[in-house]
Amino acid sequence: MTQENFDPRAFRNTLSQFATGVTIITTVDEDGAPVGITASSFNSVSMDPPLILWSLAKDSYSLPCFQKAEYYNIHILSQTQEDISNLFARPGADKFGDVDFMPGRDNTPILKDCAALLECRTRHQYDGGDHIIFVGEVLSHDHCETEPLIFHQGQYATCAKI
Ligand SMILES: Cc1cc2nc3c(=O)[nH]c(=O)nc-3n(C[C@H](O)[C@H](O)[C@H](O)COP(=O)(O)O)c2cc1C
Repeated sequence: MTQENFDPRAFRNTLSQFATGVTIITTVDEDGAPVGITASSFNSVSMDPPLILWSLAKDSYSLPCFQKAEYYNIHILSQTQEDISNLFARPGADKFGDVDFMPGRDNTPILKDCAALLECRTRHQYDGGDHIIFVGEVLSHDHCETEPLIFHQGQYATCAKI
């Protein structure tokens, strides 16, 4: 395949064969208001030091907040949290109205009842085409034994172990 006949839809379909979990990543804006997005681009990077990565579209509303943020929280969703995933996948502010959360580092919102939580400090930001790639240092983390929410071929799924 050459650059001339590149088909974005076919590329998306190829990538969607890679099943992922689903995260909500939260921080605060300059006025201290909570900000959050749904992201499946999360992945592990390094054990020593403990680093993770994720990427955010350059046209997303919350990008400037994450670019300025020192701290953010990554919540790995459980299989019952499809609704909150859809809520945080909507563009714009004001996603926290009916959501239960508590203050973390620098008042960054920590959501309740997720499968896992990683509290992170921004370490690096890289240009990644139409996305910015964030590499974060994990400051603390926790998880529970609940089953995670899966995203595969553009649809939510549950985890079946073999
Ligand atoms: C399951 C799922 C995974 C997503 N993963 C990402 C992602 O990794 N990066 C990204 O930029 N957008 C991702 N999105 C889309 C964002 O959640 C969506 O664009 C959201 O509107 C961004 O919020 P904002 O515009 O308020 O910043 C995902 C959406 C869904 C439903």
